[in-house]
Amino acid sequence: MLIKKPHDIKPSEITDESHYLNRRALLQSAGLMAGGLLLPSLFNPQTAEASVALDSYPNLKASAFSTDEKITTYDNATSYCNFYEFGTGKSDPSQYASKVKPKGWEVTVAGACDKPGQYTLEDILKPHALEERIYRLRCVEAWSMVVPWVGFPLVDLLKRFQPHSRAKYVRFETLYDPNLMPGQKRNVLDWPYVEGLRIDEATHPLALVVIGMYGKQLPMQNGAPLRLVLPWKYGFKSIKSIVKIEFVEKPPRTSWNLSAPREYGFYANVNPAVSHPRWSQSRERRLGSWGKQKTLPFNGYAEQVAHLYKGMDLKKQF
Ligand code: MTE
Repeated sequence: MLIKKPHDIKPSEITDESHYLNRRALLQSAGLMAGGLLLPSLFNPQTAEASVALDSYPNLKASAFSTDEKITTYDNATSYCNFYEFGTGKSDPSQYASKVKPKGWEVTVAGACDKPGQYTLEDILKPHALEERIYRLRCVEAWSMVVPWVGFPLVDLLKRFQPHSRAKYVRFETLYDPNLMPGQKRNVLDWPYVEGLRIDEATHPLALVVIGMYGKQLPMQNGAPLRLVLPWKYGFKSIKSIVKIEFVEKPPRTSWNLSAPREYGFYANVNPAVSHPRWSQSRERRLGSWGKQKTLPFNGYAEQVAHLYKGMDLKKQF
């Protein structure tokens, strides 16, 4: 992100967005979308037939927060990625992460809360009804995408751990395992990748824990088994492959801010009025299209989130 300029997508990388819709139609006609919520067994080897049923999420609740904009193709959203743990190139994550099948994923919950501990992925996911949220995600590099994410509100997860009133911030950490994630053998960032949110941001109803996209299990390159999506913030706040959640009193350090504090602030709210020191943030290119479009304050979610930042100077607290 720091060392790359926005790339152009080659036409050969663009495929028909009907992929996602066709797949749904196929599942429906095969009767595979009937029945209750089927939690896939993440990262277990699956046969080709079994994976059709296991890696899909039927009966997803639609969300009032969804945009009706044109959806980015599945291929673009899963092959043009930022996941420095797998390399700094946009195609590195899809090339290398898709081979990774971590097992026995656990999430440590720590800090100022009543229910710290070690939670299995199943513990984390089980009580939550999944929904589909079609969100815009705007990367700091001035490209954006529109993706049907599968997940549940972050607030519902956080409140299960009963945070104390002194927990003013939440800190998130990605897995550190250089054998699994070879990009961590290089010092491009101070590993593990860490991110943080103010508690009122983390508990805002737009903040989403994501475990799937396009009706299916989240591919590793997009942050499996669980990541955040914060649609009003630049993409780097949407931390992938989370293994730790910690309730803290002070603003936590965050990876990109540590790496280049003049370029990446703690808040990282999408703001067309504040340029990155090396490029404008006023326009963006949707993955899969050639032209550029205007970037909106808070990525178009100002009505929902602007009140969180009332009275703040967003040029200084960027
Ligand atoms: N999370 C981790 N752990 N490592 C990363 O390199 N990149 C961030 C964010 N989350 C990143 C991460 C950036 S810069 C962006 S733009 C988004 O992931 C990209 O998400 P996507 O690849 O699903 O589009």
